[in-house]
Amino acid sequence: MTQDVREDYADPAFQADPHPMYAQWRATTPVRRVRLPSGVTAWLVTRYDDARQALTDPRLSKALPVGQATDNALPPPIGAAVSRHMLAADPPDHTRLRRLVSGAFTARRIEALRPRIEEITDDLLAAMAGRDRVDLIDAFAFPLPIQVICELLGVPAADRDSFRTWSNTIVAGSANREQLPGALQAMVTYIRQLIAERRAHPGDDLLSGLIGVRDEQDRLSEDELSSMVFLLLIAGHETTVNLIGNGAWLLLDQRERWDRLRAEPALLPGAIEEFLRFEGPVETATFRVATEDLEIGGTTVQAGDPVLVALLAADRDDARFPDPGELRLDRAQNPHLAFGHGIHYCLGAPLARLEAQIAFGKLLARFPGLRLAVPAHELTWRPGVLIRGLQSLPVVPGPAA
Ligand code: HEM
Repeated sequence: MTQDVREDYADPAFQADPHPMYAQWRATTPVRRVRLPSGVTAWLVTRYDDARQALTDPRLSKALPVGQATDNALPPPIGAAVSRHMLAADPPDHTRLRRLVSGAFTARRIEALRPRIEEITDDLLAAMAGRDRVDLIDAFAFPLPIQVICELLGVPAADRDSFRTWSNTIVAGSANREQLPGALQAMVTYIRQLIAERRAHPGDDLLSGLIGVRDEQDRLSEDELSSMVFLLLIAGHETTVNLIGNGAWLLLDQRERWDRLRAEPALLPGAIEEFLRFEGPVETATFRVATEDLEIGGTTVQAGDPVLVALLAADRDDARFPDPGELRLDRAQNPHLAFGHGIHYCLGAPLARLEAQIAFGKLLARFPGLRLAVPAHELTWRPGVLIRGLQSLPVVPGPAA
């Protein structure tokens, strides 16, 4: 089948509200060709069933390069220091790399972090009290997950602001093409220093544990070690912030939702799943590349073609979810794909869920009168199609309870 290539995918206009276009594509060209600002042309998968199939198909590799003009086209020494991680690996490397850290992310180990996450949340909310207006992203949604992942890994929180700039540039990818190599270089230099410091002064944190694995058992190369730290820090920086930000926006934009959750706190865990489905933080899963010709949803994808799975589109597929365009705080069945599916299913999902439950629980209780400080149409979305999140969310906290 010949198909036009959509050149406007990832345009700012598209990003402002991608859902109508996704709905049209699901109905007409569910596996369609799009061009990204980097120049890469990829197949975009928009239906739920096709998305699940693509995410588990071993013929779609995470380890192959995505052509020449990709977001990953970096000088080899920098590239290797950030790209030898589990999300860019197929089995057996993927299995080995994931197993090295999976023990730190089990539901039980994560639950043990609850008291510390509550403390961090309380401190951030205390700092908002009494202020006329704050950016909820800057003051709350961003610092909370960063502090948690930095503490878990054993990264001093001092360099958080530079980190945020590099990290934002990196996930915007081709939308920030000029700054990308500099940001990656800065991040690699920082991570290498961090590893050297921890090697000299080990603690009981995850990073010291990983360095031990590297140095004693030799199951992790130096590039794999820095790439692991890179992946965990980026994942910790760029995702949960948008679950909290997007969820808060959804509640404040239609105030009766905020009031209902305050009145029925038992709805909170399900409401968080619904935020994930309705406006999930990861718009498209990361690139996969076909190792051989294959069919997705009746469309032939050729060996070497890059494939992007649009999680945001799949999670509003009416073939899977009744009234998918409606945010239902009490939706009963919610098998959304916001954390991905298959062997690359999000390692940090239990952590993200716990952080979100604590964050929303305390925000609702502490600031009952919280409201948007600007009309919703003035809010802008971050560039790029990997992450779906607001640039900022100005709010009036109102009196603290
Ligand atoms: C993988 C989403 C939070 C660590 C993924 C994937 C998605 C995702 C969709 C799969 C990507 C793909 O298949 O291409 C999210 C969302 C989060 C979140 C929506 C927050 C709401 C976190 C956190 C961490 C984390 C807090 C940990 C620090 C990872 C890792 C992988 C991953 C290590 C790669 C797993 C693998 O390749 O086996 N995440 N994530 N994520 N996530 Fe998350």
